[in-house]
Amino acid sequence: MAREELAGNPLDVLARWAAEAGGLPAAMTLATADADGAPHARTVLATVVDATSLRFHSSVPTTKTKDIAANPRVSAVFLWAEQGRQVVLTGTAAELDAATSRAAFPTRPRPLQVLACVYEDLTPDEPLAPGALQQAYDAAADTVEMPPSWTTVRLEPVQMDFWQVGAPPHKTRFVKDGEGWRTYEVLP
Ligand SMILES: Cc1cc2nc3c(=O)[nH]c(=O)nc-3n(C[C@H](O)[C@H](O)[C@H](O)COP(=O)(O)O)c2cc1C
Repeated sequence: MAREELAGNPLDVLARWAAEAGGLPAAMTLATADADGAPHARTVLATVVDATSLRFHSSVPTTKTKDIAANPRVSAVFLWAEQGRQVVLTGTAAELDAATSRAAFPTRPRPLQVLACVYEDLTPDEPLAPGALQQAYDAAADTVEMPPSWTTVRLEPVQMDFWQVGAPPHKTRFVKDGEGWRTYEVLP
C-alpha cells in the first residue's frame, strides 16, 4: 500500500484506515493504569469512530473500567499488519450514560450480548467454580435485555501517531491544538 500524506482530522484518517482493513468494529489494544500506576492492557473492539472520539463497550466493574474511573488517561493501539499500518493514540476515557448503551446493545452480535449477561452474574478476576461459566452462559442464553453492568466508553484522543510501512517507514503525529490538530513527521 502506497504511503499517504496525512492531514486534516486524524479521526477521519483512523476511520478510513479501519474501513480499508475491513471496517468497524476494529480490534485495538487498550492500555489503562490504576491509581498506583500499574499498567493493564487488553483487546477491545472499537465500534464507533466520530469526529472527536471513538467508543467501545464493556462491563462494569472490570479492571479497565476501575482503572479508567481512577485514572482516565489511556493509550490504545490499532494494528493492521497486512496493510503495514499502526495507529497509536493517547487520550482520556470516560463512561457514557446508560441511554447510550441501551441504544447500542441491540446492535451488538448475539454472542456478545450473552457474554455481557454472564458478566452480570459472575465476578471478574475471581477464580471460577467448576462449571460456573457454562452455567451462567446457558442461563443468559435467552436474555435480550441489556444488563445494567454493560457500558459504553468514549475515548477522546489528544495525540495520534499513524505508522505506515515503507522504505523507510513513516510516522505522522497529530497533536490536539485547541479545536484543531498540529501534524508533523517523527522518527518511525
Ligand atoms: C478479539 C477480542 C475482542 C474483545 N473485545 C472486547 C470488548 O469490546 N470489550 C470488552 O470489554 N472486552 C473485550 N474483549 C475481552 C478483553 O480482552 C478482556 O479479556 C476483558 O474485557 C477483561 O478485561 P479487563 O479485566 O482487563 O478489564 C475482547 C477480547 C478479544 C480477544
